[in-house]
Amino acid sequence: MHISNLCFNLFGFFLPPAVIATVCLYFYAALLDCTFPPARSGPASCSVSGSEHNAVSTEIAPFRLLALGDPQLEGDSSLPDPDVSAFPSFERLASRLKRDGLGEIPSNLRQAGEALLLEDLPAILQGYRKRLDLWGNDLYLAHIYRTVSWWSQPTHTVVLGDLLGSQHIGDEEFMRRSDRFWSTVFAGAEKVPRTVTDISGGVEVLGEDQSWRKRVIAVAGNHDIGYAGQIDEQMIERFEETFGSVNWEIRFRLGNASTHTRVTPGSDTLTAVDSVPELRVVVLNSMNLDGPAKDERLQNQSREFVTQQLYQPRPKSTGTVLLTHIPLHKKEGICVDGPYFDYLPAHRGGGIKEQNHLSEAGSAHILEGLVSPDRPGNAIILNGHDHEGCDTYHYRRAGSGPTDNDDGTTSSTVWQAEEYSNAYSEVANDTFIGVQELTVRSMMGEFGGHAFLLSAWYDQDTQEWQFAYKDCMLGVQHIWWAIHIFDIVVIGLGLTSLVAFLWEDMRARTNLIVQQEASNMSKIKAE
Ligand SMILES: *[C@@H]1O[C@H](CO)[C@@H](O)[C@H](O)[C@H]1NC(C)=O
Ligand SMILES: *[C@@H]1O[C@H](CO)[C@@H](O)[C@H](O)[C@H]1NC(C)=O
Ligand SMILES: *[C@@H]1O[C@H](CO)[C@@H](O)[C@H](O)[C@H]1NC(C)=O
Repeated sequence: MHISNLCFNLFGFFLPPAVIATVCLYFYAALLDCTFPPARSGPASCSVSGSEHNAVSTEIAPFRLLALGDPQLEGDSSLPDPDVSAFPSFERLASRLKRDGLGEIPSNLRQAGEALLLEDLPAILQGYRKRLDLWGNDLYLAHIYRTVSWWSQPTHTVVLGDLLGSQHIGDEEFMRRSDRFWSTVFAGAEKVPRTVTDISGGVEVLGEDQSWRKRVIAVAGNHDIGYAGQIDEQMIERFEETFGSVNWEIRFRLGNASTHTRVTPGSDTLTAVDSVPELRVVVLNSMNLDGPAKDERLQNQSREFVTQQLYQPRPKSTGTVLLTHIPLHKKEGICVDGPYFDYLPAHRGGGIKEQNHLSEAGSAHILEGLVSPDRPGNAIILNGHDHEGCDTYHYRRAGSGPTDNDDGTTSSTVWQAEEYSNAYSEVANDTFIGVQELTVRSMMGEFGGHAFLLSAWYDQDTQEWQFAYKDCMLGVQHIWWAIHIFDIVVIGLGLTSLVAFLWEDMRARTNLIVQQEASNMSKIKAE
């Protein structure tokens, strides 16, 4: 059999599965129905999507947030140190030769050869493999963002912290990774301009400014700016310059505002405007809410921000989406991560070195600001950090405020948490108030490349904002690698069969000419 035939048969055999696999990979968002949950109106629409098929009217939600967790771009810390020689065995050989003189040359050479083969070359190959890994990982993450946002058409996008993989990197490496973040992983996207994040508290009509579709809201994570024990001005500054402010808020007013305005007799214009439904998006740096913190001034800024933004009076028609990094306190066993705190040694300041959750009191402070009888309106919390993901409901009795203790002290124990799927009775029961907390599973390949699609809409019947979400998963990065390598092999087979065919054809023609010439010659001779 000819090489061209063999390759062509293999090509023909593998082409259909390659095409199918590639189409599946590039259209996975469509095939897995990664769409935003529709807005449902009607009483008691609760926050889990897809499970009900009531005869309620559905339409596209006006606020559609694509939420991505912990991309954690790695970089030079996982590559070989460029300042160290790639061939240490040669350097050892040189110093040994100097030391031992000419007599030991053969044994020294043998040793160096072994070290070269067994140590240096594997280390170099490992370095290249890691570089390839980083390159593929960026493209894998980019594939998730590009594919899901193309198919699902979000109005807003957020990355919930840990954009980069380590807080212990120099400014140069920080810039290199940030460049990869903006130019490769989120190619085509742009950061929220400082003019928006710096004012904090701006009001826009929802859907009016189309540039939000291209923007990526970047939440600060511990790998971006450090934990409380490490955060200082410099860490905050380099983050804010590249990704936007760490604490800010924006309000989106429902477009068709005037129709919602209910001017009750005797009310002034202010209350009329107040009743226009608004969705507040609050971006919060939660890494220094707890202490001890290295920089108390920065800690005060974060704490004051929580108090200012969450504790202002507001009507029921205002909904809140809190975007932050560290999950709220909950008992061991509800999510994969339980409560955990670790502190730096005293000579390094004694600040927080690591934490899984916010403290119980800090969490209660946030929850109390988000929902309480004085501050009505629905809220939802989105965060990341634990990589595994979790869906929780935080609730307390509507009557029992945190200052209800007899001695007047503040107690946080009134808040309880439960896995959301176990909390339907609390969600539906009016004697409780509560907030859903979505800990978004990481978009990293080893966690399956997840993306969360959160819809928010204003329900005219309940006069409150409603939320629903959907989880969309690409699968581990090996799938992405395998399909692309398979495609390259199939394309290689196709090209090889073409080249082999042309070559065989050329040879056949040459042979034919030679034969013809030979037969002509013999004819001439015979004549
Ligand atoms: C605005 O409200 C009016 C009256 O409720 C409705 O007929 C109209 O369709 C709405 N327009 C939009 C853009 O939602
Ligand atoms: C931070 O706030 C606390 C309590 O309000 C205050 O005692 C402290 O002086 C503040 N620290 C700084 C550095 O502003
Ligand atoms: C709501 O919860 C309270 C306290 O647990 C309980 O007594 C009450 O029966 C519940 N109501 C409904 C409608 O389930």
